[in-house]
Amino acid sequence: MEEELLRIKNNAISLILEAKSKQELNEIKLQFVGRSGELTKIFKEITKLSPDKKAEVGKKINETKQIVENLINQTEAKLGEKARQRVAHNIDVTDPAVLPPLGHLHPVTQVIEEITNIFERIGFTRERYPEIDFDWFAFEALNFPQDHPARDDWETFFIRQQPDPKHGPVVLIPHTSNGQIREMLNKELPIKMLNIAKTYRRQSDVSHAAMFHQFETLVVGKNISIVHLKGTLDYFVKSYFGADRKTRIRPYHFQFTEPSFEVDISCGVCDGKGCKLCKAGWLELGGAGMVHPNVLKACNIDPNEYSGFASGFGVERVLMMREGLQIDDLRTLYGNKLEFLEQF
Ligand code: DAH
Repeated sequence: MEEELLRIKNNAISLILEAKSKQELNEIKLQFVGRSGELTKIFKEITKLSPDKKAEVGKKINETKQIVENLINQTEAKLGEKARQRVAHNIDVTDPAVLPPLGHLHPVTQVIEEITNIFERIGFTRERYPEIDFDWFAFEALNFPQDHPARDDWETFFIRQQPDPKHGPVVLIPHTSNGQIREMLNKELPIKMLNIAKTYRRQSDVSHAAMFHQFETLVVGKNISIVHLKGTLDYFVKSYFGADRKTRIRPYHFQFTEPSFEVDISCGVCDGKGCKLCKAGWLELGGAGMVHPNVLKACNIDPNEYSGFASGFGVERVLMMREGLQIDDLRTLYGNKLEFLEQF
């Protein structure tokens, strides 16, 4: 009987290993462990044995059954995997094509487009001026005194080259205000310009990067007043941040505007009441003011006849100030991590 058991076991193993399909395997299963399978049958025969032998052979039959069943299960899994692979290789040309993943514009580019659209709606023209420019356009004509700290190489990047006799050294522009000068020298009045460009400063922390973007507005014409400035700021803030946001201008100092202001917007979290984010209900947006008479004069415009306003804000800053965005480090915008960028 033990020999018979061994024969059944060997037979079962070789058949299972040769099985080519699940169906074949099923048949083998029935042949050995099914209700009238060979192992079931032999089990019934142990009643003929003495009680001692009965226990011993019974145990062996159970072990054999276990081995055969395990092998069947393993083989079944393998055959299933093979079948799946066969299906995967079987390309159905009528299936809809799988499109490659599609990228999108960088969040900063998206915001630049949005800002452009907002200003174009009220008649501003987007201009582009050099991002590497002479000191004269970036500082001198903007009424910066020779010893102003921004003209120091601790604040501004200078290009190593001989200064131009007329326009001085060359800098990576620290602000987009050089565009004001180039616009006034190049264009007919009246002017309604939006200049967006890359700007550079020697700085790097959670709210500053050495390269960032600014957007600058300049309006010059007859009878341009602070009312126009405030109206334009209100319009931008409501269009970009939402209709319920308020704008406030606060006296400040810039070389190229007089009077000059810092522009604040009411906090979107507490609506101007004061909270952890804003402290006193307002968030700083950027600078603005009425074009300084010296700047108009440097551009051959008569300050008695014409006036203008200007403003300059950070693109990354307005992106980060947008409600619901919790970007805690400006530099992540330039980290090129897809996990971050794909959220926009
Ligand atoms: N250029 C200033 C800066 O980068 C921002 C600025 C302030 C621009 C006032 C303006 C202005 O046009 O009127 O800090």
